[in-house]
Amino acid sequence: MCPISCVLLSLAGFLALVYVFLTWNFDYWRKRGILTAPSWPFVGSFPSIFTKKRNVAYDIDDIYKQYKNTEKVVGVFTTRRPQLLVMCPEYINKIYTSDFRSFHDNERGNFVDKKVDKILGNNPFVLKGDEWKERRAEITPGLSQNRIKAVYPVSQSVCKKFVDYIKRQQRMATSQGLDAMELSLCYTTEVVSDCVLGISAQSFTDTPTPLVGMIQRVFNSSFRFIFFSILVNIWPPILKFYSLPFFNKEAEDFFFDIMRRSINLRRGKPEQQRDDYLNYMLQLQEKKGLDTAELTAHTMTFLTDGFETTALVLSHTLLLLGRNPEQQQKVREEIGKADFTFEQLTELPYLEACINETLRLFSPQTAARKLVTEPYDIVTKNGDTLRLSPGDVVIIPVKAIHHDPQYYENPQAFKPERFLEVNGGVKKFRDQGVFLPFGNGPRICPGIRFGMTQLKAALVEIVRNFDIKINPKTRSDDQLHDTFFMATLKGGIFLDFKERQ
Ligand code: HEM
Ligand SMILES: *[C@@H]1O[C@H](CO)[C@@H](O)[C@H](O)[C@H]1NC(C)=O
Ligand SMILES: *[C@@H]1O[C@H](CO)[C@@H](O)[C@H](O)[C@H]1NC(C)=O
Repeated sequence: MCPISCVLLSLAGFLALVYVFLTWNFDYWRKRGILTAPSWPFVGSFPSIFTKKRNVAYDIDDIYKQYKNTEKVVGVFTTRRPQLLVMCPEYINKIYTSDFRSFHDNERGNFVDKKVDKILGNNPFVLKGDEWKERRAEITPGLSQNRIKAVYPVSQSVCKKFVDYIKRQQRMATSQGLDAMELSLCYTTEVVSDCVLGISAQSFTDTPTPLVGMIQRVFNSSFRFIFFSILVNIWPPILKFYSLPFFNKEAEDFFFDIMRRSINLRRGKPEQQRDDYLNYMLQLQEKKGLDTAELTAHTMTFLTDGFETTALVLSHTLLLLGRNPEQQQKVREEIGKADFTFEQLTELPYLEACINETLRLFSPQTAARKLVTEPYDIVTKNGDTLRLSPGDVVIIPVKAIHHDPQYYENPQAFKPERFLEVNGGVKKFRDQGVFLPFGNGPRICPGIRFGMTQLKAALVEIVRNFDIKINPKTRSDDQLHDTFFMATLKGGIFLDFKERQ
């Protein structure tokens, strides 16, 4: 026998085994009486994860559209792992709120190893069970309205610096306009360092501190982490001997160093105390005897959860106001000329509705993935009962729901009015389970007020000082970036800021 044929034969055998390994699970949902969305070996129901030809959110959209009228749930596969796409808002609402016990944790928690990833591993978003409960209870009081108010003067001065920075940048700008995401990241970096850490990142100068670049680098390399999560889906035991941190060693050292410096700075200057987040954390540290690593992790929550999300929402609100001059003018009229007190800032319903409409159209989180933590029964459309077991994963198609004409009339249009109080407010949609940019229930984003305040403070100053115009370099549809794990307009948002007199 010639050796070539043996090699080929073994190769064929091996490939057949791989094929079986990747597909033997594909009747998982059928056996449970649930329809399965089209699935392929290796890529499962979401080929875009691998082809990178379009955002995975569109794969979910297609499945949603195909099944939503006939099913409440449909089986899908992430690589070879069975998961359940939940399309019915009543169940979505139960998953977040009344039946939270059964959907206590985020799937992301499966991919993060606390020992390897000191920063992300201590973040409430990835913690599970009682550990989550404890950490969440520690963090939320630091985000109270009073503490946000205590740093409001600092926020205001950051906004003033931001406007000056935009003016300078615009004067130097080419015909390409200014990159709205870059501007927004400068703003949120400065907010986090000034308002949270109490040190200026100098983002608005020609010599920004390395903080700005470091934060951007962390998010830039997030794709490695996402890819690792995919491997875990194909073969979970990999976690036992290898895990990849979201923050690499260099970034971790860098952030630990910054924390040490800001803590020492604060301790060394008792006269500069203010009732802000860091101050709260230092008190908590004394009460609970946390070490610097834990304190850093707590504070890092701001960077990992609040920094990129808030910048995304700011840049897309600017995009939508730029595209809709009529609404932009309405915001301007609501703002008027006077400087705002903190209390007055909370009373800007039209601006808030514009932000909420942006959150609907461009929710940074396009789909939520929750772990089943206690057995749970779902009654399907034809009356059968499907029992979910701990370890199963449910996917909530946030973007698809936000764009469904059944819940939002003319869903592609920017219509802030739909969220005004006279029309029933946001509450109407949230209670239906169809407005989910912050999640809902016990795990709802604890940074809503902080984020909203920063967004409104910046938008007030920008809209007051500039006419926001879309640069022709910006695409005119809503196509999402093909690979980024959060929603952002493909090709970037480029704006021209015309100074108002
Ligand atoms: C406008 C910007 C923001 C958006 C769109 C946003 C969105 C979200 C979403 C969708 C979740 C998941 C909720 C769930 O699992 O049900 C979340 C969780 C979280 N967010 Fe935000 N967020 C924003 C700003 C912030 C800010 C400024 C902070 C500041 C600290 C923050 C801190 C957190 C934390 C700690 C969690 C984890 C909560 C938990 O699992 O208990 N977020 N956020
Ligand atoms: C992030 O990635 C983009 C494109 O991949 C690159 O142009 C940019 O310079 C990177 N930024 C940083 C801070 O590494
Ligand atoms: C906007 O959404 C936030 C958070 O969901 C909510 O508290 C607020 O009332 C909403 N306001 C308007 C005008 O839609």
